[in-house]
Amino acid sequence: MVKANGYGHGAAVCAAAALRGGASRLAVAAAAEAEELRLHFPEVPIFVMGALTDEELRTALAARADVAVWREGFREECSRMAAELGHMARVHVKLDSGMGRLGERDPDRLVELARACAGDQRLDLAGVWTHFATADEEGDGYMAEQLAAFAPVADAVRELAPDCTVHAANSAATLRDQATHFDMVRCGIAVYGLDPFGRDPAERDLEPALELHSYVADVKRFERGASAGYGRSWRAPEDTWVGVLPIGYGDGVRRGLSNNAEVLVGGRRYPLVGTVSMDNITIDLGPDTDVEPGSPAVLIGAQGSERILAEEVAIRLETINYEVTCGISQRVPREVIE
Ligand SMILES: Cc1ncc(COP(=O)(O)O)c(C=O)c1O
Repeated sequence: MVKANGYGHGAAVCAAAALRGGASRLAVAAAAEAEELRLHFPEVPIFVMGALTDEELRTALAARADVAVWREGFREECSRMAAELGHMARVHVKLDSGMGRLGERDPDRLVELARACAGDQRLDLAGVWTHFATADEEGDGYMAEQLAAFAPVADAVRELAPDCTVHAANSAATLRDQATHFDMVRCGIAVYGLDPFGRDPAERDLEPALELHSYVADVKRFERGASAGYGRSWRAPEDTWVGVLPIGYGDGVRRGLSNNAEVLVGGRRYPLVGTVSMDNITIDLGPDTDVEPGSPAVLIGAQGSERILAEEVAIRLETINYEVTCGISQRVPREVIE
């Protein structure tokens, strides 16, 4: 799963790593993402999971990507577009087994749709699939209900197209219950070494791939009462040193981290103080410091024996690790370390 620029990590480089690691296919949400990936991977099967306008459908099919289908009208459009492009369209029929988002709710109607796909010479019924709403909630019973709704539909579609791929599991379901695996799993977050349950990835032997680095651009003496940043939301409680880092919400360091985060410098945690600006943040280095301009800083990742997890940042922001890494903006150069 390399949608949203590979969960913010960089789609093409993560796709290449995943394929080297054994992934057999790539999946994205949008047609433009498939189009971009196709330039890098001429032969790899790519699946576009999301809703598509006619224009986007053309883009996806022209990139020889598989697409998701759950309505008869869209099936017809796929068929028409396949004729226009001169090659078959590979389609995966989607059951909404309880997510309440994209997909056909009625199992019989979905099987009917699958039958129509199977009977259409311009379409290749390549898959039947669904998506879980609560896989990341340990101990919940809803995933089992969704699974029970999906399994007979998958069987019925497989009878129509014995070679089609049955798939349902995201990372959490993959880790939670083997019964969700079917023919293929659609792992995203765990591939990046992040924990789908929002806990420490190490508990499940996951190793985060991403680190977010900056550096201390300036170190300034602050007298007691002096303030840092917009709105003067922090004032030095005593004479101290403040480090200025050239990274801000324009880079994806969310403003909700104002006075609510820590940054690693020289292997030590320092509090982020003041309001996060678009391009800068400030950290309190304390009354005596040996930190100098140019010192490397880590906002997510390890330095010495300290480590700041995306999951920690997510908890501070009352969000999920997905949003933390997806939010790292294009402005941040991605440096790939093998
Ligand atoms: C339909 C679908 N399948 C699979 C995934 C991958 O989920 P995860 O990153 O939790 O593994 C997503 C991501 O949100 C998704 O939307």
